Amino acid sequence: MSYKEKIHKDRLPRHVAIIMDGNGRWAKNKGEARAFGHLNGVNGVRESLKAATEIGIEYLTLYAFSTENWDRPPEEVEALMDLLVQTIIKEIDELDENEVSLQVIGDIEKLPMKCGEALKDAIRRTSGNKRITLILALSYSARWEMTQAMKNLAIDVKNGEIDPKEINESIITQYLQTRNFPDPELLIRTSGEKRISNFLLWQIAYSELYFTETLWPDFGKEDFFKAVHAFQTRERRFGKISEQVNS
Ligand code: IPE
Ligand code: IPE
Ligand code: MG
Repeated sequence: MSYKEKIHKDRLPRHVAIIMDGNGRWAKNKGEARAFGHLNGVNGVRESLKAATEIGIEYLTLYAFSTENWDRPPEEVEALMDLLVQTIIKEIDELDENEVSLQVIGDIEKLPMKCGEALKDAIRRTSGNKRITLILALSYSARWEMTQAMKNLAIDVKNGEIDPKEINESIITQYLQTRNFPDPELLIRTSGEKRISNFLLWQIAYSELYFTETLWPDFGKEDFFKAVHAFQTRERRFGKISEQVNS
């Protein structure tokens, strides 16, 4: 029985987030340059998007480039940015046909102009699509996002638009870039690393974490289904006790 068949359609996570990791090691294992790993990493993106769409996941967030990734060797950064533009241009028609709505979180003003333009164009074109929302985290880090949120909240307090006594979790959530998306119930990281690397710190407060040794270019639909299945075997207690959750 495949993992897809084992999934209960009535208990799906609405939002799955993935830290796509292991492109460099995948390439190294094959005696190739790191950029070759990134090129093949597009395969993991295609497969996980297909898998998520097939079972009816509403939101898929992919961590594609972190704030800290700007410190990689310039030629790798450049290769990643070129790949980003080329992939968007190549895939946009298919994304649109499959009713995918593209969204971005992160400091996109920092991206090269051609990337920013390709992204804004793709977001505009797909904005009416309703089947699944694909959120790319680009030049993103959770601490950057929270810092921006605090700055903007401080400005609104200063302008008298918000009373500090009224600040609560739901107001803070409104200042994050993810304000229009539910929190991910499931966070997947590939390549065997077990850390968060500055991803969605606020939003994953109660996410189920799933780690796999599979390197990102090898991550296929069944790997995605396997993670969703594992999620469905867990008991999410949110601080309560088992008997309360099951009653
Ligand atoms: C993930 O693969 C892609 C990005 C972070 C852009 P890596 O490039 O981190 O691959 P490893 O971790 O070096 O194998
Ligand atoms: C995290 O991967 C960032 C992305 C997947 C975009 P890294 O490979 O950059 O993370 P670290 O440096 O191993 O923590
Ligand atoms: Mg890595």
